Amino acid sequence: MPAPYIAPSILAADYANLGDDVEKVANADWIHVDIMDGHFVPNLSFGPDVTAAVDGVTDQELDVHIMIEEPEKWIDAYIKAGADTIIFHVEATDDHVALAKELREKGCKAGFAIKPGTPVEPYLADLEHFDEVIVMSVEPGFGGQKFMPEMLDKVRTLRKAIDEKGLHTIIEIDGGINEDTITQAAEAGVDAFVAGSAVFGAADPAAAVEKLRELASK
Ligand code: DX5
Ligand code: ZN
Repeated sequence: MPAPYIAPSILAADYANLGDDVEKVANADWIHVDIMDGHFVPNLSFGPDVTAAVDGVTDQELDVHIMIEEPEKWIDAYIKAGADTIIFHVEATDDHVALAKELREKGCKAGFAIKPGTPVEPYLADLEHFDEVIVMSVEPGFGGQKFMPEMLDKVRTLRKAIDEKGLHTIIEIDGGINEDTITQAAEAGVDAFVAGSAVFGAADPAAAVEKLRELASK
């Protein structure tokens, strides 16, 4: 499937009816699973068992964004839970390339995420080791925050580097994506779009996914 990829974040889903909500977005490309440990970010979400439960009700790829300390200790649990891509934060590890290599050796796609305050330049030389990069367009930890358009400069830098190197690394934007912000992100070169509140806060999540895909495809 070619880009754009729409990835609803289940952080914004109804946890008392999580399976139903995942089924509501069967037309989405991926399911974005936000793992938060209450230490790397000031919020606690869910872990491997919920991830496995979601994996059990959908064939869609699980895009597992781990906002946790010591990600090295947890990748086996999330691979076992059904993650197709694990995206860890470069701020939480001192060897992002080693962790990427380990993920790929274990048959899992590898991604890194960068917080708004983290520059992207130091990581451009390592892009060949990664299947995906998440550019956070909000401070990680919570859904429903305001999109930070200044983060699109990092997207443009990544787009140029990936294209010049002839890589297929996917650029994903994460935070505050909705009908008003997705077009500028697509124009900057984003391939994959996380949307939590814009999808699960909508009366018709499937229609919201379609609208986002249409806007990102323009
Ligand atoms: C924030 C998470 C995001 C968040 C997106 O730390 O990584 O994926 O759930 O939620 P919205 O789309 O509501 O900003
Ligand atoms: Zn996320």
